[in-house]
Amino acid sequence: MFDLEHEQSLSLVRLLPRLEAGLDARDQAAFVPRFTQHFPALFRLLLEVYGQNYDFFYHLEQMTDLLVSAFKSRPQTLRQLDDQRLVNPHWYQRGAMLGYVLYVDLFNGTLDGVREKIPYLKQLGVTYLHLMPLFKAPESNSDGGYAISDFRTVNPALGTMAGLRVLADDLRAEGISLVLDFVFNHTSDEHDWALKALEGDKRHQKFYFMFPDRTLPDQYQTNLREIFPQQAPGAFTHVPKLDKWVWTTFNTFQWDLNYANPDLFCAMLGEMLFLANQGVEVMRLDAVAFIWKQMGTSCENLPQVHGIIQAYNLCAKIAAPALLFKSEAIVHPDDVVKYISEGESPISYNPTYMALLWEAAATRDVSLLRYAMERRFVLPQGCTWVNYIRCHDDIGWSFADEDARMLGIQGFSHRQFLNEFYTSAFAGSYARGLRFNYNPINQDMRICGSAASLGGLESGLMAANAEWIEAAVNRIVLLHGVMLAAGGIPLLYSGDEIAMLNDYSFSDDPHKAGDERWVHRAKFDWSRLEEAQRRPTTPHGQVFSRLLRLIQLRAQDSAFDGGETRFFDSGNQNVLSFARRNEVVILANFSDHPQTLGWLALRGVWGMPNSASDIISGEILDTVSPIHLLPWGMLWVRAD
Ligand code: GLC
Ligand code: GLC
Repeated sequence: MFDLEHEQSLSLVRLLPRLEAGLDARDQAAFVPRFTQHFPALFRLLLEVYGQNYDFFYHLEQMTDLLVSAFKSRPQTLRQLDDQRLVNPHWYQRGAMLGYVLYVDLFNGTLDGVREKIPYLKQLGVTYLHLMPLFKAPESNSDGGYAISDFRTVNPALGTMAGLRVLADDLRAEGISLVLDFVFNHTSDEHDWALKALEGDKRHQKFYFMFPDRTLPDQYQTNLREIFPQQAPGAFTHVPKLDKWVWTTFNTFQWDLNYANPDLFCAMLGEMLFLANQGVEVMRLDAVAFIWKQMGTSCENLPQVHGIIQAYNLCAKIAAPALLFKSEAIVHPDDVVKYISEGESPISYNPTYMALLWEAAATRDVSLLRYAMERRFVLPQGCTWVNYIRCHDDIGWSFADEDARMLGIQGFSHRQFLNEFYTSAFAGSYARGLRFNYNPINQDMRICGSAASLGGLESGLMAANAEWIEAAVNRIVLLHGVMLAAGGIPLLYSGDEIAMLNDYSFSDDPHKAGDERWVHRAKFDWSRLEEAQRRPTTPHGQVFSRLLRLIQLRAQDSAFDGGETRFFDSGNQNVLSFARRNEVVILANFSDHPQTLGWLALRGVWGMPNSASDIISGEILDTVSPIHLLPWGMLWVRAD
């Protein structure tokens, strides 16, 4: 009989000498208590995931040695940060948090170029900087850096690992946390492990999924969702050199890693801790939903995924406690939340809010958005959404069909409408987007385009129609405004602050032409920024100055600090309404017409206020007559 408690304490006793041998007395004093605190839970998780096949003691030793050596080489400044974070673990719930995500090359050439622009990031109010994957990657197509060939080498065109450390330190000195991806579902086929596997090395072949013929792949495939049905159909790629089929969920050159192999679990743990020690404070768990496969399932969101992330989380708590995980699970909303907890990923993208904001902008009806957010926005204590409008990826309509059905909306046809709307196939649509990975079998597709082009600025400018331009500017500001006001960490996609439009030149580059996401990955236009700053009345200037103001208001106002966001029914299907900590009510008009709203609509928050003001304009609101909202207008109301 296996006695868990007994095995656990026995293992601990057997492992402790390794800590003593590997660390000096001072390091032991910091490390050993953390190790003994978290070891029992870690032991249990690994047992759950790896069960009987687990060569327990061997892998526990391997893991312990990795933790010890990572802690030993952790720089003093990061150890100080560890101590600060342990005292103030929910630092990321401050109202002044603002995220910004950029591609190093597109933003300002190199890592040094990013460093030069720290004053600009400070001006914006950025406290969280996500740099898109910047590691060594195949020179041709690398899926925008998401096919990594070496987690320990920076792409030479962008800089060096030493340069990354300097940047991380400089950012931290300015109150900005560095965020990088942990691209751990796959490596590129040029990664050393893949190259060794190609040479026939059995250990490294077992890091991946390899099949001698199509028998098993065909059985798996029947239950799998196709991620890139156009550019990379199917989830398996034939590798002629091995005459084997390799699992490739994404592109053919991105080989999925096999976490059922504890050896691989340890190898990736080493890479993770290495990155943490470079000064990374938040790791975005890329494509996290896909890391465990099991025959007969969709191979997404399986329970073992959570076990593995929780185990990695405990490893971080032992060796690099300042490190935080952010999950990137762009899946059904019921599955999104399963990744979110303090023991797993305390922060997560909010893909449902993002998609439904665009849904409401198309339909001019906030019902589905409100319905879903009333039920799905509140997270466990200590956990936080990363709210965003756009990112480097496509938009998928990942709302819950069950939510839609409750409102009499049929999921499939609604998605068809949204796809038509955002690819301007729908007459009268203001949006200019591109279809992404159309799948003729289920007629699914996703949408690409910049916030400004999807929000109507491109069509307005092309038509030189002042009314359309005005509506688009208001719409773009409104979408960002409800992202900023919703609490959590708002995440700006670089270039959106100056309303950059789609860039269609990607189709001239053979390495990009097959992937429409490049339409919204343009080079940052510094002259546009300069002009926006100089001429705040141009459309780009208006977006910039109004966003800057919203960001500043948010950072200064305690209503946006931690605490609750509560969505409620304003009684008007065009108007999104939510309260922040019962202090401020956000009202946003998702329609082309002015709207009025009785104060009674807000009674759930305050009763009837005697006086109220809009914090954005600073104007006093008349509490006797109804509230007025301009087309695509927004108020942040505070009652006294
Ligand atoms: C992530 C990235 C996406 C990439 C994929 C494969 O979801 O956001 O850009 O294509 O993973 O790494
Ligand atoms: C899918 C995946 C997501 C990925 C995206 C890339 O939505 O779920 O992880 O980023 O595809 O297009």
